[in-house]
Amino acid sequence: MSQAEIGLIGLGVMGSNLALNIAEKGNKIAVFNRTVEATRKFYSEAGELKGQIVPCETIEEFVAAIRPPRPIIIMIKAGEAVDQQMEILKPYLSKGDIMIDAGNANFRDTMRRFDALKGSDLTFIGMGVSGGEEGARHGPSIMVGGTEESYRRVEKVLTSIAAKYENDPCVAWLGENGAGHFVKTIHNGIEYADMQMIAEIYGILRDGLKMSAAEIGEVFGTWNKGRLNSYLIEITEKVLKAADPLTGKPIVDLILDKAGQKGTGKWSVIEAQNMGIPATGIEAAVAARSISSMKEEREAAEKILGLPPVGEFTVADRQAFIEDLENALLAAKIGAYAQGFAVMSAASKEFGWNLPMPTIAKIWRAGCIIRSQFLDEITTAFTKAPDVANLIVTPAFAAMVKETDGALRRVVSAAVLGGLPVPALASALGYFDSYRRGRGTANVIQAQRDFFGAHGFDRVDGADSHHGPWGSGLNA
Ligand code: 6PG
Repeated sequence: MSQAEIGLIGLGVMGSNLALNIAEKGNKIAVFNRTVEATRKFYSEAGELKGQIVPCETIEEFVAAIRPPRPIIIMIKAGEAVDQQMEILKPYLSKGDIMIDAGNANFRDTMRRFDALKGSDLTFIGMGVSGGEEGARHGPSIMVGGTEESYRRVEKVLTSIAAKYENDPCVAWLGENGAGHFVKTIHNGIEYADMQMIAEIYGILRDGLKMSAAEIGEVFGTWNKGRLNSYLIEITEKVLKAADPLTGKPIVDLILDKAGQKGTGKWSVIEAQNMGIPATGIEAAVAARSISSMKEEREAAEKILGLPPVGEFTVADRQAFIEDLENALLAAKIGAYAQGFAVMSAASKEFGWNLPMPTIAKIWRAGCIIRSQFLDEITTAFTKAPDVANLIVTPAFAAMVKETDGALRRVVSAAVLGGLPVPALASALGYFDSYRRGRGTANVIQAQRDFFGAHGFDRVDGADSHHGPWGSGLNA
């Protein structure tokens, strides 16, 4: 029997689906799970794909079933379990074998794992996989970090299983060591911002315009046919229109308003802050999830403070306001994506990756959670200007910002006056307004810093005088 082209450890939902996808695309795959029952169950349910799958019950058997140099995908819970799995595998591997972590790892762990294998016979790939269960089964977006040579060994298999955008496979080698997992982290950070901004718009429609879930679903459905067309808008329509089988009520009205988070959003913010890059859309989204989880505290505060006067939420022309909401969402989305790409571009320099911005936008066009038409426009903008300082100053996006930021301003104003929280939408407005203003207000900050700490400042006229006239009693 010919050997398997690739191996996979971890037959949870994501691992099983990825393995079936690999098998279905004509690649022979060896699979292994810590508990033998899961392997047996997986194989027994593999149907006509059984011929492409080698179920293995021991690590020895598993390793022997794969053609060297062996690429082995590890699809288990991120964190220490990955290190443990790698230690278990190592004694059985030989020259050139590649351990591939396909979970949502912190890229710093990926760098550490990659470095630990440097100089040994083995190598490591950190591979971001986006698209959830469906994506894993039928075509995810795949972000690869590791040596280029190790990528070449798995390129054929990965290309066969990746989502396709107009025949372009959504997979790429993005750079050494942690590049793939870093890009996946920022993908998730942007996903957080996208989701939060959608939730804020939903809040305006629900609490401001007093629309029902089904009516709001209809609005999202219409938007999905326009410039906002994307997977997240599409599923929002579906979510809002779904009925609860137990009560017949809209399910969304019955879901507790406490959002979970596993860490990738927070990591995006931490890394952005470490590099001094504003990622206010992602920051607002992470903070909003945190405040959402303080349900009991919020309920207690509502009793003490009361709600702001939402009754004052008035719009002159409802239809025009809904059009404003669509444009506001687009504008805010541009801000969040611009920030995400700016973080990646800073990280590229910081970690020496040479991240290809047009390629990243390209492989996010299909398969992943943030897939959209919009990413095709980002691909075009970065292809024309790969080294541009910020997406929003490319001609196409500058035009879009100018066209939509008025709507964002009106929407944020209405929400603020109506007491509806819109931290992510407002963050985009604040970002645009600060970024586009040549003369800001940090001169006061510099003066204050110099006043209390003699930190010095530079002058607009370039004169060689770096301290203010605050001495002689002024500082008393
Ligand atoms: C994807 C998703 C996926 C997962 C996140 C959700 O790209 O397929 O982002 O990675 O759904 O882990 O993250 P939170 O649990 O933090 O929302």
